[in-house]
Amino acid sequence: MKPIKVEHPLIEHKLAILRDKKTGTKEFRELISEITLFLCYEAMKDAKLTEVEIETPVAKTKAHVIDENDYVFVPIIRAGTGMIDGIVTMIPNAKIGHIGLYRDEKTLKPVRYYYKMPKGIENKQVIVIDPMLATGGSGIDAITLLKEDGVKNIKFLSIIAAPEGLMRIEEVHPDVQVYCAAIDDHLNDVGYIVPGLGDAGDRIFGTV
Ligand code: PRP
Ligand code: URA
Repeated sequence: MKPIKVEHPLIEHKLAILRDKKTGTKEFRELISEITLFLCYEAMKDAKLTEVEIETPVAKTKAHVIDENDYVFVPIIRAGTGMIDGIVTMIPNAKIGHIGLYRDEKTLKPVRYYYKMPKGIENKQVIVIDPMLATGGSGIDAITLLKEDGVKNIKFLSIIAAPEGLMRIEEVHPDVQVYCAAIDDHLNDVGYIVPGLGDAGDRIFGTV
């Protein structure tokens, strides 16, 4: 599936501040949450609505609601957890699973160290969240693990993606729709996105 780049002047504006190396931890975290709101909004466009009857102070009426329990968001630790705040602002009852992967600095291959999902994950709409999609290794591995667990409906939200990672994810998992806020130019020789924003985990957690 071709990736969807979510376009909006506010996203461009917030990305400009997010990318700036002078932006500090507090603002960086807030911007990650805010941009995640936009991505979540777009990814939920096809959410199933159920008709309910409610009563306003004026009259009875029919309204439509989403079953928030149908959705599980899965951050890839660490940087993905920085996006949880934005997700739960939009979907306060969303279940959260966690996948711990790190990228081996020499081979650039993801190594798994944590995996914990809510019960019944196989029947949920699962949305993996990670601000950076670089080589695509972490995202692909996370999706593979979820599929091994029987998950059928998977989407992927990333803030900045590299063309190389998008191509790989499309090849390996063509059924997964990726949403991103930016598609950057290329990866450098150590697997960083150019121009990117540097190391997202370090900037979110202040470990630079
Ligand atoms: C970053 C990012 C992704 C991964 C992307 O995490 O959050 O998980 O790199 O790179 P890839 O597409 O080439 O796999 P990192 O491994 O730096 O760990 P961190 O979140 O703990 O900083
Ligand atoms: N992970 C990051 O945090 N930044 C990059 O540019 C690539 C991978």
